[in-house]
Amino acid sequence: FKVPVAVNEPVKTYAPGSPEREAVIAEYSKMFRSKVDVPLYINGKYVTTKNTKTMSPPHDHKHVVGTYHLADKNHVEDAIATALEARKTWSQMPWEHRAGIFLKAAELLAGPYRAKINAATMIAQSKTIHQAEIDSACELIDFLRFNVQFMTEIYHDQPQSTSDAWNRVEYRPLEGFTYAVTPFNFTAIAGNLPSCMALMGNVVIWKPSNHQIYSAKVIMDVFEEAGVPAGVINVVFGDAAMITDTIMASPDFSGLHYTGSTSVFQSLWKKIGNNIANYKTYPRIVGETGGKDFIVAHKTADARQVATAIVRGAFEFQGQKCSAASRAYIAKSIWSDVKKYVIEDLETVKMGSPEDMNNFVTAVIHEASFDKLASYIDQAKKDKTATIIAGGNYDKSKGYFIEPTVIETTDPKYSTMCTELFGPVMTVYVYDDKDFSKTLKLVDETSEYALTGAIMATDRYAIDEATKALQNSAGNFYINDKPTGAVVGQQPFGGARASGTNDKAGSLQNLLRWISPRLVKETF
Ligand code: ALA
Repeated sequence: FKVPVAVNEPVKTYAPGSPEREAVIAEYSKMFRSKVDVPLYINGKYVTTKNTKTMSPPHDHKHVVGTYHLADKNHVEDAIATALEARKTWSQMPWEHRAGIFLKAAELLAGPYRAKINAATMIAQSKTIHQAEIDSACELIDFLRFNVQFMTEIYHDQPQSTSDAWNRVEYRPLEGFTYAVTPFNFTAIAGNLPSCMALMGNVVIWKPSNHQIYSAKVIMDVFEEAGVPAGVINVVFGDAAMITDTIMASPDFSGLHYTGSTSVFQSLWKKIGNNIANYKTYPRIVGETGGKDFIVAHKTADARQVATAIVRGAFEFQGQKCSAASRAYIAKSIWSDVKKYVIEDLETVKMGSPEDMNNFVTAVIHEASFDKLASYIDQAKKDKTATIIAGGNYDKSKGYFIEPTVIETTDPKYSTMCTELFGPVMTVYVYDDKDFSKTLKLVDETSEYALTGAIMATDRYAIDEATKALQNSAGNFYINDKPTGAVVGQQPFGGARASGTNDKAGSLQNLLRWISPRLVKETF
C-alpha cells in the first residue's frame, strides 16, 4: 500500500516578471481572444448537440469566449448506459491503476496544464490569479494526491483473522452509477467530486454548473490525458432538472455527490426519496451546501487581527465561498479600532478585471447574483437599523462588480445577518463587552447553517467558552483566524445543519461514502 507521500502543492506567487506570471498572462490573452467550443463528453468522445449557449466572462459580460452544448434526455440516457458498460471493467481495475491515473492528473495540473486551468478559471469564473492558483491549481492537485493516500488507508483497514478463518474486506465501489453535481465557485470542487468517486472504482455522470464550463473542459482534457478510460466520467451540461430527473429515474442510480445551494440539495433529496423503491440499492447522498459563516471577536481580541480576518474572510474570492465570513459580532470596546483598520484596508483594495494582477476583488458570477446583492445593499441604505460603513457601490455596465461592502447593524437578526448572500457583503453587529455569553447563544440560535465560524480572543477562558457554546454552529471552527481557506489534508472541510451532510471534503470519511464493503470469510 505504499503510494507517493501526499504533499500540498506549493502556491506560486506570480511575482512580476516571474515565468509563471508570464505564462498565465499569455494563456489568458490567447484564451480570451479565441472562441472555445465545449461539447458534452460521453463514452470518451466529445459530443456536439444542436442546442448551444454562449459563455461570457462575468467581468466583461458582453464579450463571448465560447459556446457549450446542451444535452437532451437521449444524451443523458447514453451517458448512463455508457457508464454502466464502463463499470464492468473499471470496477475490476486494480486500485494501483486507478491511483496511477489520478496521480498523473495531479502532475499534469501542476505542470503543463497549470496556466491553462488558471486562465480558464480567471476568464469564465472571474477569479484573480491568486484565487485561481489556490483553487484550480493547488486545491485540485491536493485533492487528487491526498485522495490516493486516503484510499490506501481505507484499503489497509482489515479485520482480525484466526488460523482457521481468514476475514478480509473487499472495498467494492457502489453498484450502479454515481452522479456529481458541482458548483461554479470552486474549480477544485468540480474536479474533486467526480474524480474521488471514480478513484474508488465508481463510474460517474458529472454535471458541472453552467458557469464553470470552461475550466470543466480543461479538467476533462487532463483526465483524458491522464488515462481515465472511456465511459468512466461522462460530462453533461444543460437543463439541470431534466438531467437530474433522467438520472434519478434510473434504477442503477447509486450515489449523489453534490455541492451547491441548500434549496437544490433538498429538492434532489426529495426526488431520491420519491423514487426510493425503484433503486437497486439505497443511494448514498453527500452534499455540501450553504453557509452564513461568522466571526465572533471577544474584547481581548487583537483588533488588527480581527480586521484582517474580516477583510480576507469576507472579500477574498468576492465572498463567493460557502465558507466566506458574512456576519461578525464584535465587542464594543475594540470596535472603533477594528472599524478603522477595516476601512483603511478596504481603501487600499483594488477591484476590476482579473487580467490586472493588482486587483484583489473581481466581478460576481452573474446578473442574478449582482441584482440580489445590489438590492440588499439598497435596502441597507434605507433601513434605520443599518449603516453602510464601507463600500456600497456597484456597477454592472461592463462586468458584475460589487464593491466590498460592510454594513453595521443594531439588530442582530437584521436580514443580512441571517440570509446567505454569497457575495462581498459583510454585516457587523457590535455587542456590549459584558454580553459575550449572551452573544454566543445568539450566534448559535441564528445558525440555521453550520459551516464555518471563528472565535477571536486572547483570553483562553473566552476561547474555551466559545468553543463549547458554538460546538454545533460550525463544522469548521477557527480560533484566531478567518473562517476560510481550508487546505486539503490539513483542515477537512464541511458542515452540518442546512450546510450539508458534513462528509468532509478532502478526507478519508468522504471516500468511505463511495464504497460498499464486502466481507469475505474463508474457512480452512
Ligand atoms: N474549502 C474552502 C475554504 O475553506 C471553501 O475556504
